[in-house]
Amino acid sequence: MRNQSDDVLLRMDGIVKCYGDLVANDNVDLHLNAGEILAVIGENGAGKTTLMKILYGLEQPESGTIWLKGEKIRVRDTAHAIANGIGMVQQHFMLFDPFTVTENIVYGKEPRRGLFFDIDGANRMVSDLSERYELPVNPVARIKGMPVGLRQRVEILKVLYQNAEIIIFDEPTAVLTPQEVNELLKTMRQLASNGKSIIIVTHKLNEVMGVADRVMVMRNGKLIADLPVRDTSIEELSFMMVGRRLIESAIPEIPPGKKVLEIENLCLNGTGSVPILDRVSLHVAANEIVGIAGVSGNGQFELVQTILGLIEADSGKIQVGGQDIFNHPVRSVRDSGVAMIPEDRFIWGSAAQAMVVETAIMGHYRKQEFSKKNFLQIKKIRSFASKIVKEFNVKADSILQKTGSLSGGNAQKLIVAREMTQQTPLLVACEPTRGIDIGAINFIHDRLIEKRSEGAAVLLVSSELSEILKLSDRIYVIYNGRINGEFLRGKVNEEELGLRMVGSIKNELQ
Ligand SMILES: Nc1ncnc2c1ncn2[C@@H]1O[C@H](COP(=O)(O)OP(=O)(O)OP(=O)(O)O)[C@@H](O)[C@H]1O
Ligand SMILES: [Mg+2]
Repeated sequence: MRNQSDDVLLRMDGIVKCYGDLVANDNVDLHLNAGEILAVIGENGAGKTTLMKILYGLEQPESGTIWLKGEKIRVRDTAHAIANGIGMVQQHFMLFDPFTVTENIVYGKEPRRGLFFDIDGANRMVSDLSERYELPVNPVARIKGMPVGLRQRVEILKVLYQNAEIIIFDEPTAVLTPQEVNELLKTMRQLASNGKSIIIVTHKLNEVMGVADRVMVMRNGKLIADLPVRDTSIEELSFMMVGRRLIESAIPEIPPGKKVLEIENLCLNGTGSVPILDRVSLHVAANEIVGIAGVSGNGQFELVQTILGLIEADSGKIQVGGQDIFNHPVRSVRDSGVAMIPEDRFIWGSAAQAMVVETAIMGHYRKQEFSKKNFLQIKKIRSFASKIVKEFNVKADSILQKTGSLSGGNAQKLIVAREMTQQTPLLVACEPTRGIDIGAINFIHDRLIEKRSEGAAVLLVSSELSEILKLSDRIYVIYNGRINGEFLRGKVNEEELGLRMVGSIKNELQ
């Protein structure tokens, strides 16, 4: 059967997908022209990932039709999607660490000479692809230890090796450094000018404006707008997504109180020739949000893990409220009054198999309000979980839903809600708004400001410079495991921070 409009490469018509009573995709239409970059935006839980999973054969719709080059198809599974030229760059990369770049790229479709794997031929093919699409890689390098941006490049090459004509990216920039983001956007344009068609799901509206030709807006499972990017603006898109205008809260001026977190000369040697943390000294006081600005990979996450007791440091001092916590176990660190939003929601923050109600008290279940004489207070726990789900607008069917089946942003919101509602003197917030939609970011920012104004000390680690600049009363720059500058609010601009983050300006003291 042929569809009328053959100029359209892909068409999804009236897609419906339900999970129980929840309609994740409610009669959604999508079309994609050859060589086009289409952005898909919408609030957390709007149904973006679900729609992409249907296109890539990871989910089957209840109803709806997919047309590819005028032919009707049902994408049975991912192998079928790949065979039809549909590829997806996964957010949680699927590469094998001990293998080389080439081995990963050709895995499942290895070139052979006679009975044997033709390794030289494979390396040559990868080099050719890498040159053709200007995606430099070393075919024989191993994946282990590669920065995220480079891993993603390997994923893209893998999709190209599989001859994808349509490439789906689901929030590809969430884990990249600003420089890697620019490179990826350049790559997308390059791919499109080579005739590839691209769908990008993102929460970053500046990326939509910068790279896409057309944008689809989803809300509550429905398509609510589909328009050329040149006919719209960030403000209009933001209004369409959230349904209201966002107001930035003013930050009340409050002098800092007593020091809550104090770190002196913290050293973590690691196994390389350069230490991971080199004589780091910093403090965070009550009524203060202190931002750590740095390019990912400069020691900021190890710093946080060291504070929490997840990694043992080599020397130095760490105190919370005057109490020593240096190299203490996680439990005793938490008991001393530390809440923590971890960098990666699924590695540290929750378990995919756990129910929402379990995730809601994870790490805190021994507290008085949740357990008495070693018995969990189920009623209280349930009402706490329901309360934070409601307050932070976590979109879940019920508190018994598995955390892993929440949309990415909603899982993140749940962890943020759990840690932010703890009445602790110190909150360590790592990438608190990663994967979160602009409306919810606004809400979380307001809550962080509120918490600080009520007397908490907040250590904010974020790769979003705008977030650091907006929220922080004071900023430390971290570069190569060292503190490379300290600034009060309003005393530094984005440019100087950027230069310090890459070490172009260095602290004179060092
Ligand atoms: N396997 C599943 N079981 C039950 N519900 C699910 C499942 N997968 C998704 N959902 C629900 O479907 C809805 C849409 O989820 P989806 O992941 O498509 O959202 P999204 O737009 O990608 O959001 P985000 O921006 O947070 O990534 C959510 O409410 C989610 O809880
Ligand atoms: Mg998603």
